[in-house]
Amino acid sequence: MSATAKKTAPLPADILARKGGLPLVCLTAYTTPVARLTDPHCDIVLVGDSLGMVLHGMESTLGVTMEMMILHGAAVKRGLSRAMMVVDMPFGSYEESPSQALRNAARILRETGAAAVKLEGGVEMEETIRFLTRRSIPVMAHIGLTPQAINTLGGYKVQGRGEDRARVLDDARAVARAGAFSVVLEKVPATLADEITAELPIPTIGIGASAGCDGQILVVDDMLGLFTAFKPKFAKRYAELGETADAAIAAYAAEVRARSFPAPEHVFGEEAQGAKP
Ligand code: KIV
Repeated sequence: MSATAKKTAPLPADILARKGGLPLVCLTAYTTPVARLTDPHCDIVLVGDSLGMVLHGMESTLGVTMEMMILHGAAVKRGLSRAMMVVDMPFGSYEESPSQALRNAARILRETGAAAVKLEGGVEMEETIRFLTRRSIPVMAHIGLTPQAINTLGGYKVQGRGEDRARVLDDARAVARAGAFSVVLEKVPATLADEITAELPIPTIGIGASAGCDGQILVVDDMLGLFTAFKPKFAKRYAELGETADAAIAAYAAEVRARSFPAPEHVFGEEAQGAKP
C-alpha cells in the first residue's frame, strides 16, 4: 500500500522509514477547518509557531507561548484523522535545560495529542534532543534559518553559504546523531540541502532548500495566498484566497449598504410550517 493511501496516521518511525522514498508532503495548519483540508493530502501537519505572525499579527515568532501552541495544537488535532501532527516548541520553552524541554514537550504531547515536537537548533540542541528522544519524545529538528534566532542571525537570511556551510553541516549531523526522526532545512543553498540529504540517515524536509530533500513543507497561509504581509521567494502561491476573500467581503459590504442583503430567501416569515430553522 502506498503511504498516501494509508488510513491511519503515520508515527515518527513510519516517517523515518520514508527516507529516500516517496517525498513527504507537509504543511502547517493552525485551526480545525484548515487541518481538515490538509489531512487527506499530507503526511505531516505541523502546528508551527509561525502562527504568531500568520494568525496573531506578531512581528516575529518570539512572542508565541506554550498556551498558544497547545490551544492551536488541540484544534488542529480535531481536524486530523490520517496525517501525523507535529507541534512546535515555542521560544523559551526548551533552551534552558533538557529537563525544561522534557517538561514542556510532554505537556504538548499530552494536551494536544501530537505525535512529536519540533524544536530549532543544531549542535547546541544535541544534548536536549538526545534527552527527549531517549525519554519517548520524538523530535523533528529544524536547522538553517531558525526564525526564533532572528535577533542573533540578523534577519531572515539564507544560512550556510560559503564558509558558513560547515556550520550547517555540523548542525545536521548533530541532530541526526541525537536521534531526531527528521529535520527541517530552512533557507539553505540547494547544493547544501542535497549534500545533507545524501549524508543523513533521517528524512530532510525542505523549505527554501531543494527539490532533492526527502520532503517539503510550506506555511499553508502562504501557499493559499492568505498571508500577504510579505512573500518569501520559496513560498509558491497555489491559490489567491486573499483576493477571493477581499472580493467577497467587498460584495457583502456593497449589498448591505444597498439593502439588497438580506434578500427574501435569507429572512424568516411568521409561518412555521416547512420553514427551515
Ligand atoms: O513555524 C513554522 O511554520 C515552521 C515551518 C515554516 C517549518 O517552522
